[in-house]
Amino acid sequence: MKSKHAQVHFNESGTPVADHFDDVYFSNDSGINETQHVFVAGNDLIERWQQWRNPTFVIAETGFGTGLNFLVAMHAFNKFKAANPDHPLRHLYFITTEKFPLPKKDMQRALEAFPALKAEADALSTLYPMGLEGCHRLHFDSHSTTLDLWIGDVHELLPQWHSPVEGLIDAWFLDGFAPSKNPDMWTDALFSQMARLSKTGTTFGTFTAAGIVKRGLAGVGFTIKKRNGFGRKRDMLTGVFSQDNENVQHKLRLPTGPYYRYANSNIDKTSKVAVVGSGLAAASACLALVKRGISTTLYFDGDTLASGASGNPQGGFYPQLHSEASIASRIQAHSFLYARQAYDHTIKYTKANNLTDVAHDFCGVIQLSFNDKVAERQSKLAAADVWPEALIKPVDSKEVSDIANLPLPYSGLYIGLGGWLSPPQLVTAMIEEALQCGKLELKPNHTYVSHEAIETTKQRVQIRFNLGSAESEEVITADHLILALGAGAVNAGDFDSLSLRPVRGQVEAIPTQMPIEQLNTVLCHKGYMTPALDGRHALGSTYVKNDLSTDVRSDETETNLATHEQALANTSIVQALQHDGKARAATRLGSPDHQPVVGALHDFDSLKEDYTMLGVGKPLTSAPVLPNSVVSTLTCLGSRGLTTAPLMAEVLVSSLCKEPLPLSNDLLNAVNTSRFMTREAIRRQS
Ligand SMILES: Cc1cc2nc3c(=O)[nH]c(=O)nc-3n(C[C@H](O)[C@H](O)[C@H](O)COP(=O)(O)OP(=O)(O)OC[C@H]3O[C@@H](n4cnc5c(N)ncnc54)[C@H](O)[C@@H]3O)c2cc1C
Ligand SMILES: C[S@@+](CC[C@H](N)C(=O)[O-])C[C@H]1O[C@@H](n2cnc3c(N)ncnc32)[C@H](O)[C@@H]1O
Repeated sequence: MKSKHAQVHFNESGTPVADHFDDVYFSNDSGINETQHVFVAGNDLIERWQQWRNPTFVIAETGFGTGLNFLVAMHAFNKFKAANPDHPLRHLYFITTEKFPLPKKDMQRALEAFPALKAEADALSTLYPMGLEGCHRLHFDSHSTTLDLWIGDVHELLPQWHSPVEGLIDAWFLDGFAPSKNPDMWTDALFSQMARLSKTGTTFGTFTAAGIVKRGLAGVGFTIKKRNGFGRKRDMLTGVFSQDNENVQHKLRLPTGPYYRYANSNIDKTSKVAVVGSGLAAASACLALVKRGISTTLYFDGDTLASGASGNPQGGFYPQLHSEASIASRIQAHSFLYARQAYDHTIKYTKANNLTDVAHDFCGVIQLSFNDKVAERQSKLAAADVWPEALIKPVDSKEVSDIANLPLPYSGLYIGLGGWLSPPQLVTAMIEEALQCGKLELKPNHTYVSHEAIETTKQRVQIRFNLGSAESEEVITADHLILALGAGAVNAGDFDSLSLRPVRGQVEAIPTQMPIEQLNTVLCHKGYMTPALDGRHALGSTYVKNDLSTDVRSDETETNLATHEQALANTSIVQALQHDGKARAATRLGSPDHQPVVGALHDFDSLKEDYTMLGVGKPLTSAPVLPNSVVSTLTCLGSRGLTTAPLMAEVLVSSLCKEPLPLSNDLLNAVNTSRFMTREAIRRQS
């Protein structure tokens, strides 16, 4: 859903004021000093960072506003890191909520008042997201900081944050306008969520000393301390979460859905992880792992990367959105925005380091309204008005023709941030970027055969590879295995208890010619057509269920051309197309509900027994936690792997490292590996 922007004006001191709340975003006296006093010193951050022994520290804030608190915290953390380069604390997570995000220009104007934070403010300005509800994970790599900006109401968002059993947050910045101006925020519901998400020893700082806040936080287990307030304010509150009853905390943290639980993974920075695959999924997983300093080895079956579905010369890059903000659409929308950030980064990185160039053009994507049924669907989406225009907007036939640079008699939907990329070059660039971290090793010509969990001093996994002939095998041991095999999963016994849906597809590479030579955007209808790369356009694609062969077939070429002919029947484009038969076929892997499959891989058939209680009406929360697993998967990216691979890899690796997760619980449940088993158990109820 799109969010409502804040309405602000700037007062005579130049401080932004929220019209709706009639309150300032920060002190007229000195915003930076106020943040330092109330939130940084209020949580004893510098002292606690010095003592910290974990690799990450997690700050949560209510009310992101201008981002000033975030910038001050990130600046302080950067300074701490520079002064302590070998300190075990390596990364700051800052998780924040915002119901009414500031328009970017207002945020920029507000932050101009703080030249000392210019570098941080510019970085925020570059990544500042559109007003779309949900989690926007933004990486500030050069500041060793990740910002999770959750757009929406704090009361709806906090219950959707997944927490490990020992808690998630290390320090709270309780902001959000004065309780007298914003009473709806400062409620018991907020305080009990804070308790749910806090660890024993978690601190908070807030500018207010209001009784309702003091009593509320004391009531859920915080020990409260009054300190001197900032500027003209006499008092403020700080405190420590002093509850240590693990059982109570555990109960509080059980997610409402049955499926998603933090896997009790054994991964830390000393671990060795094996990833198998060579496509977008494997490359995204490798990058997410090595960025966290985890030693990773990538095994794949050929001698080149991207030999499977990720090997097509060009892929369309866009989200598949519906008229409602359904779970499927939200996964697509957030995956797309995250992928765009990831690809911008990789493309910039590879250019700066003279690595593989990624052929791409973020030239936008138009979904053409090419028949009555599609026109009706598109009108419904436009009328529902749930998505920001920056993500998708209706365009009339004149606009379509202008954007496409071809006369087209259709209206449509325009996705301005989309376009096309070369997936194999992208995979290579991501792997090269990962190699630069010095933590990745490549093992080509290793065909994965099987694995076995082994118990030494800790749980590990023994993995068997075939090196080309029956006699030539290699067995290695790792702490964790990630299988990102694409359609190769169909032949791996590990996936027997999941229902996989392989679908072969062929894409034509037609020579450029008039009039499509002029095409300036990706055109989507039942198929898709891209602007040219190296003199050829991608024209795709066919769908043949349960077919793993990859030969190029002339009947599928005919089907592809016919699809375009039918969809574009009212134009002169298709009749004129010449083709010399060059094409590529591969198999995409999908799941029964068309969502990616991400998380711990078990023999779910053998676990079914443990979940039969769901079939006799026991509540979902009573379903047992899944056993530990030393094997995970990142698969079933279907027809939209360019869109979903980076965020799904981030979900998986964050979960293995017990870091904050960049998806709400309902979306985590929708992509988790165990959902099919649990759903089946519930269905048996009837
Ligand atoms: C015809 C077609 C058109 C498409 N068009 C688009 C598009 O326009 N936009 C878009 O976003 N997506 C598109 N897709 C989907 C996209 O290509 C996939 O979602 C994505 O490539 C999947 O990536 P992956 O890494 O999961 O799988 P893959 O890219 O298939 O990679 C899996 C790799 O695993 C390796 N492997 C498999 N088994 C083993 C084993 N036993 N041992 C060792 N290695 C193994 C193989 O080397 C293989 O390359 C298209 C797919 C097809 C088939
Ligand atoms: C005082 S400002 C925060 C200042 C901010 N921390 C900064 O650094 O600029 C309070 C913020 O809380 C947001 N807010 C108010 N009620 C909220 C709610 N229920 N959920 C999420 N955000 C809320 C407001 O929109 C506003 O941006």
